[in-house]
Amino acid sequence: MKTDKKKVYLKVWGCQMNEADSELIRTILEHEGFLFDEDADSADIVLLNTCAVREHAVRKMRGAVYAIRHRRNGRPVLIGLLGCVPTHLKEDLLNDRNLKVDFIAGPDSYRRLPALIRQVQTPRKPASDLKEDKTEKYEGVVPKRQPGVNAWIPIMRGCDNFCTFCVVPYTRGRERSRPVKAILKEIRQAVQDKYLQITLLGQNVNSYRFDGCDFAGLLEKISTIKGLRRIRFISPHPKDFPDDLLKVMAAHDNICKHIHLPLQAGSTRILKLMNRSYSKTSYMKLIDNIRRVLPDVTLTSDIIVGFPTETDEEFLDTLSVMETERYDAAFIFKYSPRAGTLAAKKFKDDVPAAVKTERIVRLNQLQRQISLEKNSQRIGQTLEVLIESETSARSAQHYTARTDGNIVVIIPEGPYRTGDFIPVRITEATPHVLKGRPVSD
Ligand code: SAH
Ligand code: SF4
Ligand code: F3S
Repeated sequence: MKTDKKKVYLKVWGCQMNEADSELIRTILEHEGFLFDEDADSADIVLLNTCAVREHAVRKMRGAVYAIRHRRNGRPVLIGLLGCVPTHLKEDLLNDRNLKVDFIAGPDSYRRLPALIRQVQTPRKPASDLKEDKTEKYEGVVPKRQPGVNAWIPIMRGCDNFCTFCVVPYTRGRERSRPVKAILKEIRQAVQDKYLQITLLGQNVNSYRFDGCDFAGLLEKISTIKGLRRIRFISPHPKDFPDDLLKVMAAHDNICKHIHLPLQAGSTRILKLMNRSYSKTSYMKLIDNIRRVLPDVTLTSDIIVGFPTETDEEFLDTLSVMETERYDAAFIFKYSPRAGTLAAKKFKDDVPAAVKTERIVRLNQLQRQISLEKNSQRIGQTLEVLIESETSARSAQHYTARTDGNIVVIIPEGPYRTGDFIPVRITEATPHVLKGRPVSD
């Protein structure tokens, strides 16, 4: 049967918030009669939900646009860029002769996406919708979730922190929290739909505040939802980690004992230049406190090397925090100047590329070793895991599961289903994953 409904291909880069936004975009477009297609070559409309956080992400997006055009070989397609690159680069993107995209829309414009697409179709004329809307929280749009056990639940959008290296406050606008009631309703529905592991999302998830309810209060309420087995949240900022929050985490088994606590840099001088509002000492004190209340917590972090003016000695401060705190995992990035941010305006990107590479290699080596040591200590332990998928990245005969502490465990296939919680004895460790066998085997 021939249909005149337009087929949309949607690809996403960036953080989980972009993933969650893609689910909203899908709902909004399907509601207006658009169909979704897994194949960019046969789609009528290609949507790329983009990330602007580092230049590398922008380069990947450009490469994808060129590749799509190349494969289409002149066959018509509408290409739209969504998300953070449009609100960062604005109309310059439409004037980019190499990209030749048809429309751009920012994170607050998705409700108007169907209208925007219609507008560019007839007559074919590039268009943009980049308006920031401080009230837009996408209430009432029920996300079209990915199948599986994981549900993303955005609880707040935007960011007011203005870390000097970061483009997010410019791309996603001002901070706004969703109403408690709406969040609880959405989670109850997700649990009914068999999503057992929910991840609360926000650029500063623990800065959540709505009508006097803070993040600790919200977590407490969420933890009482019947049938909800695992609650995660990402990304918290070290500035909003009161004891109350740790107590709530300790009191409820269904709040996962994993905290992603971005350090960014170990030097207090650099942290000041980054406007991170904590020092090396206060950050380390916070970790002591976290470990006192949650002794089994797994800790992960984000780190930037080569921020302007970072000396070798200051870099060693970062290394020493990593050696002392021994994160379970860390994501380490080379500083990438972002147009419009304070750091890009104020400082030259003066750490040579070769030095940034040297520093990132050194930290990655250190982290690999620490992750391997920590994972190796788990050999012989029996851990409860949630089966997330009945395949693994490497083999169809293995399943992928996850511990409460967010460590991936590969297990052999067996009489289990996605969504089962089973005890697994850990048999092997690598820096990034564990291998194990169900204890009943
Ligand atoms: N809101 C989150 C993270 C946002 S971006 C938070 O505050 O933790 C994710 C990570 O990208 C950041 O933690 C930081 O380590 C890294 N990042 C952000 N801007 C960057 C830049 N200009 N160059 C290199 N890394 C950057
Ligand atoms: Fe960016 Fe800082 Fe906001 Fe995180 S807290 S999104 S790093 S400005
Ligand atoms: Fe990237 Fe925007 Fe997320 S810049 S990290 S997609 S908030």
